[in-house]
Amino acid sequence: MSSFTEQLVSEHKNVLLTREQINQKVRAMAAQISQDYKGEVPVLICVLNGSFLFFTDLVRELTIDCEVDFVKISSYGDALKSSGKIDVLKNVDCPLEGRHVLIVEDIIDTGLSVHFLRRWIKKLNPASMRFVSLLVKEGTAIVDYECEYRGFTIGKEFVIGYGLDYKQLFRNLPEIYIMPEALLDAMNK
Ligand code: PRP
Repeated sequence: MSSFTEQLVSEHKNVLLTREQINQKVRAMAAQISQDYKGEVPVLICVLNGSFLFFTDLVRELTIDCEVDFVKISSYGDALKSSGKIDVLKNVDCPLEGRHVLIVEDIIDTGLSVHFLRRWIKKLNPASMRFVSLLVKEGTAIVDYECEYRGFTIGKEFVIGYGLDYKQLFRNLPEIYIMPEALLDAMNK
Protein backbone atom coordinates (compact mmCIF):
# COMPACT_ATOMS: atom_id res chain seq x y z
CA MET A 1 0.00 0.00 0.00
CA SER A 2 1.59 3.28 -1.08
CA SER A 3 1.61 6.33 1.19
CA PHE A 4 -0.59 9.33 0.50
CA THR A 5 2.58 11.22 -0.49
CA GLU A 6 3.53 8.50 -2.99
CA GLN A 7 0.02 8.57 -4.46
CA LEU A 8 0.26 12.33 -4.91
CA VAL A 9 3.73 12.54 -6.46
CA SER A 10 3.23 9.51 -8.75
CA GLU A 11 1.15 11.56 -11.22
CA HIS A 12 2.92 14.47 -12.86
CA LYS A 13 -0.40 16.07 -13.79
CA ASN A 14 -0.96 16.88 -10.11
CA VAL A 15 1.99 19.32 -10.12
CA LEU A 16 0.95 22.96 -10.28
CA LEU A 17 4.36 24.58 -9.71
CA THR A 18 7.71 22.84 -10.07
CA ARG A 19 10.72 23.33 -7.84
CA GLU A 20 12.41 25.35 -10.60
CA GLN A 21 9.40 27.65 -11.09
CA ILE A 22 9.26 28.22 -7.33
CA ASN A 23 13.04 28.83 -7.10
CA GLN A 24 12.93 31.38 -9.88
CA LYS A 25 10.03 33.24 -8.31
CA VAL A 26 11.59 33.23 -4.83
CA ARG A 27 14.85 34.62 -6.23
CA ALA A 28 12.98 37.39 -8.08
CA MET A 29 10.95 38.32 -5.00
CA ALA A 30 14.08 38.37 -2.81
CA ALA A 31 15.90 40.56 -5.33
CA GLN A 32 13.01 43.04 -5.34
CA ILE A 33 12.85 43.15 -1.54
CA SER A 34 16.66 43.55 -1.27
CA GLN A 35 16.44 46.49 -3.66
CA ASP A 36 13.45 48.12 -1.94
CA TYR A 37 14.96 47.80 1.57
CA LYS A 38 18.54 48.73 0.70
CA GLY A 39 20.09 50.51 3.70
CA GLU A 40 17.32 49.31 6.07
CA VAL A 41 17.29 46.33 8.43
CA PRO A 42 13.75 44.95 8.16
CA VAL A 43 12.22 42.31 10.41
CA LEU A 44 10.78 39.45 8.36
CA ILE A 45 7.99 37.60 10.08
CA CYS A 46 7.21 34.02 9.13
CA VAL A 47 3.55 33.09 9.56
CA LEU A 48 3.70 29.49 10.77
CA ASN A 49 3.18 26.81 9.79
CA GLY A 50 2.45 27.17 6.10
CA SER A 51 5.15 29.65 5.11
CA PHE A 52 8.08 27.87 6.76
CA LEU A 53 9.71 26.63 3.51
CA PHE A 54 8.99 29.76 1.49
CA PHE A 55 10.30 31.91 4.35
CA THR A 56 13.57 30.02 4.74
CA ASP A 57 14.16 30.02 0.97
CA LEU A 58 13.29 33.73 0.70
CA VAL A 59 15.53 34.97 3.53
CA ARG A 60 18.46 32.92 2.21
CA GLU A 61 18.26 34.88 -1.05
CA LEU A 62 18.22 38.34 0.57
CA THR A 63 21.35 40.45 0.25
CA ILE A 64 20.38 43.05 2.88
CA ASP A 65 20.79 42.81 6.66
CA CYS A 66 17.58 41.52 8.21
CA GLU A 67 16.12 39.97 11.33
CA VAL A 68 13.62 37.14 11.50
CA ASP A 69 10.72 36.40 13.80
CA PHE A 70 7.84 33.93 13.86
CA VAL A 71 4.13 34.09 14.55
CA LYS A 72 1.54 31.36 14.47
CA ILE A 73 -2.09 31.89 13.71
CA SER A 74 -4.64 29.33 12.75
CA SER A 75 -7.86 29.57 10.82
CA TYR A 76 -8.18 26.38 8.75
CA GLY A 77 -7.68 23.58 11.22
CA ASP A 78 -8.00 20.40 9.13
CA ALA A 79 -10.69 21.76 6.84
CA LEU A 80 -10.40 22.72 3.17
CA LYS A 81 -11.88 26.16 3.78
CA SER A 82 -11.11 28.90 6.28
CA SER A 83 -13.28 28.77 9.39
CA GLY A 84 -13.25 32.57 9.44
CA LYS A 85 -12.13 32.60 13.06
CA ILE A 86 -8.47 33.37 13.68
CA ASP A 87 -6.53 32.43 16.79
CA VAL A 88 -3.08 33.74 17.75
CA LEU A 89 -1.07 30.69 18.79
CA LYS A 90 2.37 32.35 18.97
CA ASN A 91 3.11 36.04 19.34
CA VAL A 92 6.13 37.98 17.99
CA ASP A 93 9.20 38.07 20.24
CA CYS A 94 10.98 41.04 18.66
CA PRO A 95 9.76 44.57 19.57
CA LEU A 96 8.40 45.93 16.28
CA GLU A 97 7.99 49.57 17.28
CA GLY A 98 9.76 51.77 14.71
CA ARG A 99 10.86 48.75 12.63
CA HIS A 100 10.25 48.01 8.98
CA VAL A 101 8.22 44.81 9.01
CA LEU A 102 7.63 42.30 6.22
CA ILE A 103 5.05 39.63 6.96
CA VAL A 104 5.58 36.48 4.91
CA GLU A 105 2.66 34.22 3.98
CA ASP A 106 2.54 31.11 1.82
CA ILE A 107 -0.95 31.72 0.45
CA ILE A 108 -3.76 34.26 0.56
CA ASP A 109 -7.22 32.81 0.04
CA THR A 110 -10.13 34.59 1.75
CA GLY A 111 -7.79 37.41 2.85
CA LEU A 112 -8.90 37.04 6.47
CA SER A 113 -5.42 36.16 7.77
CA VAL A 114 -3.76 39.16 6.10
CA HIS A 115 -6.58 41.43 7.20
CA PHE A 116 -6.21 40.18 10.77
CA LEU A 117 -2.39 40.34 10.78
CA ARG A 118 -2.33 43.88 9.40
CA ARG A 119 -4.61 45.18 12.16
CA TRP A 120 -2.75 43.23 14.85
CA ILE A 121 0.80 44.22 13.82
CA LYS A 122 -0.23 47.85 13.23
CA LYS A 123 -0.99 48.13 16.95
CA LEU A 124 2.71 47.39 17.61
CA ASN A 125 3.63 50.67 15.83
CA PRO A 126 6.05 49.50 13.14
CA ALA A 127 7.69 52.19 10.96
CA SER A 128 6.22 50.36 7.96
CA MET A 129 4.49 47.08 7.21
CA ARG A 130 4.25 45.14 3.97
CA PHE A 131 3.02 41.67 3.08
CA VAL A 132 4.72 39.03 0.96
CA SER A 133 2.84 35.98 -0.30
CA LEU A 134 4.10 33.26 -2.61
CA LEU A 135 0.57 32.38 -3.76
CA VAL A 136 -2.51 34.53 -4.12
CA LYS A 137 -5.81 32.88 -5.01
CA GLU A 138 -7.89 34.79 -7.51
CA GLY A 139 -11.58 35.42 -6.88
CA THR A 140 -11.74 33.95 -3.37
CA ALA A 141 -11.24 37.03 -1.15
CA ILE A 142 -14.09 37.87 1.18
CA VAL A 143 -12.40 40.94 2.69
CA ASP A 144 -10.29 43.71 1.15
CA TYR A 145 -6.59 43.26 1.80
CA GLU A 146 -3.28 44.56 0.50
CA CYS A 147 -0.30 42.38 -0.37
CA GLU A 148 2.67 44.29 -1.75
CA TYR A 149 4.82 41.36 -2.92
CA ARG A 150 2.94 38.61 -4.74
CA GLY A 151 4.45 35.49 -6.28
CA PHE A 152 1.99 33.42 -8.30
CA THR A 153 -1.68 34.15 -8.86
CA ILE A 154 -3.53 30.81 -8.86
CA GLY A 155 -7.09 29.54 -9.29
CA LYS A 156 -9.52 28.25 -6.69
CA GLU A 157 -8.06 24.71 -6.49
CA PHE A 158 -6.94 23.39 -3.11
CA VAL A 159 -3.14 23.29 -3.22
CA ILE A 160 -0.64 21.33 -1.13
CA GLY A 161 3.13 20.96 -0.87
CA TYR A 162 5.97 23.42 -0.18
CA GLY A 163 4.57 24.25 3.25
CA LEU A 164 0.90 23.85 2.40
CA ASP A 165 -0.91 20.94 4.00
CA TYR A 166 -4.01 18.84 3.98
CA LYS A 167 -4.59 17.35 7.44
CA GLN A 168 -0.98 18.37 8.27
CA LEU A 169 0.52 16.20 5.50
CA PHE A 170 2.47 17.20 2.35
CA ARG A 171 4.13 20.31 3.84
CA ASN A 172 7.54 18.71 3.23
CA LEU A 173 7.18 18.37 -0.55
CA PRO A 174 9.39 20.66 -2.66
CA GLU A 175 6.72 21.24 -5.35
CA ILE A 176 3.19 22.61 -5.19
CA TYR A 177 0.41 20.23 -6.18
CA ILE A 178 -3.31 20.45 -6.82
CA MET A 179 -5.09 18.12 -4.39
CA PRO A 180 -6.52 15.26 -6.49
CA GLU A 181 -10.13 14.22 -5.78
CA ALA A 182 -9.11 10.56 -5.48
CA LEU A 183 -6.56 11.36 -2.80
CA LEU A 184 -9.07 13.49 -0.94
CA ASP A 185 -11.48 10.54 -0.97
CA ALA A 186 -8.77 8.11 0.13
CA MET A 187 -7.80 10.37 3.04
CA ASN A 188 -11.38 10.70 4.21
CA LYS A 189 -12.36 7.02 4.09
C1 PRP B 1 -3.27 29.15 5.79
C2 PRP B 1 -2.15 29.97 5.18
C3 PRP B 1 -2.51 31.38 5.50
C4 PRP B 1 -4.03 31.35 5.52
C5 PRP B 1 -4.56 31.94 4.26
O1 PRP B 1 -2.98 28.94 7.14
O2 PRP B 1 -0.89 29.62 5.70
O3 PRP B 1 -2.01 31.79 6.75
O4 PRP B 1 -4.41 29.97 5.62
O5 PRP B 1 -5.94 31.83 4.16
P1 PRP B 1 -6.96 33.07 4.27
O6 PRP B 1 -6.51 34.10 3.25
O7 PRP B 1 -8.27 32.43 3.89
O8 PRP B 1 -6.94 33.58 5.67
P2 PRP B 1 -3.72 27.83 8.07
O9 PRP B 1 -4.69 28.48 8.96
O10 PRP B 1 -4.22 26.72 7.20
O11 PRP B 1 -2.56 27.30 8.98
P3 PRP B 1 -1.13 26.69 8.56
O12 PRP B 1 -0.32 27.84 8.02
O13 PRP B 1 -0.58 26.14 9.82
O14 PRP B 1 -1.36 25.62 7.51
